[in-house]
Amino acid sequence: MATHIKNIAQNHLGNVAIIMDGNGRWAKKNALKISKGHEKGVSVVKEIVEESINQKVKSLTLYAFSTENWGRPTQEINAIKNLIVNAINDQVPELVEQNVQLKFFGNFELFGKKIINKIEYAESSTKSKNPSLKLNIALGYGGQQDIISIVKSVSKGVLDGEIDINKISDKTIKDFSCVPEPSIDLLIRTGGDKRVSNFLLYQIAYSEICFLDNFWPDFTRLEYKNCINQYKTVSRRFGKRV
Ligand code: FPP
Repeated sequence: MATHIKNIAQNHLGNVAIIMDGNGRWAKKNALKISKGHEKGVSVVKEIVEESINQKVKSLTLYAFSTENWGRPTQEINAIKNLIVNAINDQVPELVEQNVQLKFFGNFELFGKKIINKIEYAESSTKSKNPSLKLNIALGYGGQQDIISIVKSVSKGVLDGEIDINKISDKTIKDFSCVPEPSIDLLIRTGGDKRVSNFLLYQIAYSEICFLDNFWPDFTRLEYKNCINQYKTVSRRFGKRV
């Protein structure tokens, strides 16, 4: 009797991005201060970084602070700033041990010298030729703002005669973007809302998207693994007939 072996396509998993939403609502649900929600959020980041290494994810890009988040109360912004400094101080030695390369992107000028110095320290300490994982943190980032900045830079290049207008391509856009990864394979958003909130607008053109109801502090390794497994078996056609 012939054996039927079902061939299940396995998509290669390269670049994952996460919108870590729901810290505030998690804190409220647990009668805690919002800053406690963000604190718990950082501990979940640690777990998900570990699992990304286990799953051989190439890069993990996290939305830590959007351009629009500057509209939040000063107290909350200060709590997030402190968390970033503490997370860098606490986590860099472990990230070095794990061979994880850290990269921050966005407009973090407004965060001030102390954080900018910390970012430089974190990036230079974790530089690696062959990292187990590239961990990219969006800070003061907005997808529309990035696109505006790309348009300005490319226009200037054309005006200065350095860029041939007929040679502007997808690669040109990606080269001028502040986003470290050219495209995202899998985008995950926790917290129940089904929107992309100005995150990686150009790079998510063909991402598989996983929307989850759980708040970020409740996000588990198992849920993460489920998203990855679901991603691996989906048929990615990129608009073509296959
Ligand atoms: C979204 O929850 C979360 C943020 C805007 C901040 C995320 C920041 C961290 C987890 C800490 C910093 C991270 C790193 C990697 C250093 P929300 O506050 O918008 O939740 P809500 O929608 O329930 O209000």
